[in-house]
Amino acid sequence: MQSSNIVQPQQKNTIMQLLEKYKLDGRNNKMSLTAGIYMDETGESPILDTVKVAERFLVENQTCKAAFNMTGDVDFHRAVKKVVFPYFTEVEKKEICVIQTLGASGAINLIGQLVNQYAPLSRIWVSNPTWENHEPLLGHHLGGICHYKYVAENNKASVSKIMEDLQYSKPGDYVLFHASCHNPTGIDPDLYQWTELAKFCKDMRLIPIFDFAYQGFAYDLEKDTEVFGIFKQNVDDFIVCNSFSKNMGLYDERVGALSFIFTDQEKTNSWLQTTKRLIRSSYSIPPIHGGAVASHIINNDLLFKQWGEEVSGMRKDLERRRSDFFSALDCVGMKEDILDFDKQNGMFVCLKLTEEEIGTLREKYGIYMLDSGRISIASLNSKKIPMLCEAIKKLRV
Ligand SMILES: Cc1ncc(COP(=O)(O)O)c(C=O)c1O
Repeated sequence: MQSSNIVQPQQKNTIMQLLEKYKLDGRNNKMSLTAGIYMDETGESPILDTVKVAERFLVENQTCKAAFNMTGDVDFHRAVKKVVFPYFTEVEKKEICVIQTLGASGAINLIGQLVNQYAPLSRIWVSNPTWENHEPLLGHHLGGICHYKYVAENNKASVSKIMEDLQYSKPGDYVLFHASCHNPTGIDPDLYQWTELAKFCKDMRLIPIFDFAYQGFAYDLEKDTEVFGIFKQNVDDFIVCNSFSKNMGLYDERVGALSFIFTDQEKTNSWLQTTKRLIRSSYSIPPIHGGAVASHIINNDLLFKQWGEEVSGMRKDLERRRSDFFSALDCVGMKEDILDFDKQNGMFVCLKLTEEEIGTLREKYGIYMLDSGRISIASLNSKKIPMLCEAIKKLRV
């Protein structure tokens, strides 16, 4: 466990820096495995059929682009409640406050500012390891960032290790959890473990914040939300930051939401008003297009079903790629050496390679991955799997 201060050290080889280096790399057989972007076999990030239908609908029917909704449209709020909180009763749904944000990143950034306003001395706990942008997004938070260990035991998250560090938290501290497809490990708590964590948060008076960037990529759109039903039963307050970047392929549209699930409606209203002020003084209003696409799909039962199938298609494809990659590693005799776990959810696989080996892969073979050894199998197609495995093998012969 350690605390970090407001000024973050400059990271080297961030995802964005590696994407830029990759673009400048002139080699034909180069390979970018850095970002969590779903690519098909042709190497493109496809636009979903449902998104195309929604966009056509908007072109034909949208009558105005001057709604000036700082928190997004009511149809978007309805859509988020339907897809992110399907296990909530209608009354419970009414009490949730949804705010459209610039992706989950925008929601997480707002959270850092909100915690400054309401609880400047509270710490925000994030997992170690975690997504590289969590701390920069929350970095201006005054109370500081602390870390809890996130490790796997028998292909499951170790809740006892999480609690071991969180026992040093103070009542009123915030804890950031990954609701599904933990980035980078791909190991999630099961429902029994989430219940243990929910009870722990209640006892320690901690406020959970969920980053929900990969809805639909662990089991399915609905099942991945079960964790919120568990926390609703156990804690008074929690917060969800969800994203439509991955599951709708709307990466560049910047569409996500921040949801407050508070029992005290006065508190909800106060947080809403403060959030509006923060939004007004930064980007003023969220872009309308992505939110309108997402709500059109989710609020239309037929499109909603079709979208669910598209997400399942991507998830199954990732499962197939993961298993093909593991078999190919096995074939070249490297599986045991560089893999810690063989069952993971989501877009990433962590390889046990040294930074030097990762540098060699980049310089010699044009294979780009994070210095931590995290690769995105969402960008790994059938042609690249043998090339990657051969290059890894050559590192160690
Ligand atoms: C854990 C996690 N949270 C959030 C995001 C970003 O989501 P968005 O594009 O909605 O800002 C990512 C994207 O890589 C992620 O891995």
